[in-house]
Amino acid sequence: MRILLHRADGLTDPWVRDFAQVLPQAQVVVWREGEQIAPCDYAVLWCPPEELLGQLAQVKAIFLTGAGADAILKYGHALPQVPIIRLGDAGMAVQMAEYVTHAVLRYFRRFGEYEQQARHGVWAQLPQYDKSDFTIGVLGMGVLGTPVLDALAQFGFPLRGWSRTPKQHARARCYAGREQFDDFLAGTRVLVCMLPLTAETDNLLGRAALSKLPRGAYLINVARGAHVAEPDLLELIGSGHIAGATLDVFRTEPLPAHHPFWSEPRITLTPHISALTLRLESIRQIGAKIRALENGESVSDVVDRNRGY
Ligand code: NAP
Ligand code: GLV
Repeated sequence: MRILLHRADGLTDPWVRDFAQVLPQAQVVVWREGEQIAPCDYAVLWCPPEELLGQLAQVKAIFLTGAGADAILKYGHALPQVPIIRLGDAGMAVQMAEYVTHAVLRYFRRFGEYEQQARHGVWAQLPQYDKSDFTIGVLGMGVLGTPVLDALAQFGFPLRGWSRTPKQHARARCYAGREQFDDFLAGTRVLVCMLPLTAETDNLLGRAALSKLPRGAYLINVARGAHVAEPDLLELIGSGHIAGATLDVFRTEPLPAHHPFWSEPRITLTPHISALTLRLESIRQIGAKIRALENGESVSDVVDRNRGY
């Protein structure tokens, strides 16, 4: 069995080494730009360059080394009609729960303000927020969004979740579809975006949606930068309608040096690290799915091209 491996960062050796452990029967062939290689059975990649698409026509399945499929689905009809299988958790859910919990508690317990005070030698206790005023709304109740709701439930925050199809959650009030979007937003004090980027969710968080949050709301975006209309967010932060934002993802990554987000003190930003791909966990998951496919079994996390995720 031959597996085509592409990594944009060029760091292929540890992947080849771990694949040899997990799937010793496979020969991993590293694809590099400008190269033609003999046909492979499977491909393992993330954000492939267009030139690589021609090599994918004969594979039985394409495995993504990430949770989101937007970076490959952007090629649309140029993609071969083979199953595309994304990562399902593979160690990302706990990282998302850590990141979002940290950001929520930072706002709720006012740690950012205490850090500022300490920098200026100020000893002053600020009024504590009331948890009943701190409803957290999670956009996306999937593999990653649901464990984030579960983690936040332990602190007793009022919770709500929004998805495309109706869902149930033991501790969160559930909303579904565009018809219930405005109700979901009204009263959400901390909005957490954990949606896939699709034609329906692109630019979802612009002036119209963000204005429906109560004054003094916070935004946490750990999904994709294109979910947020960046100038609208800056404007609403400037007016005080949005009190602060924690952003892990941006329309252009790395965030350009002169981007206004860098100098906005009410924006906390991180370089797309809220849930990193864990190599060994990912290879174990991909290896198990390759074995299942070889045995004629079905596998989870197959991307639905019509839905876009
Ligand atoms: P998932 O399991 O596919 O869950 C997606 C959720 O979004 C589902 O609940 C889905 O609704 C909902 N959804 C999709 N389109 C919608 C729409 N138009 N309206 C309302 N809800 C909609 O995906 P996941 O594994 O949780 O990952 C989510 C995203 O996180 C990824 O696509 C990726 O962009 C992002 N991510 C970011 C990082 C990072 O480091 N920043 C890391 C990993 C993932 P249904 O349940 O009804 O289908
Ligand atoms: C990272 O952003 C992912 O989708 O896995």
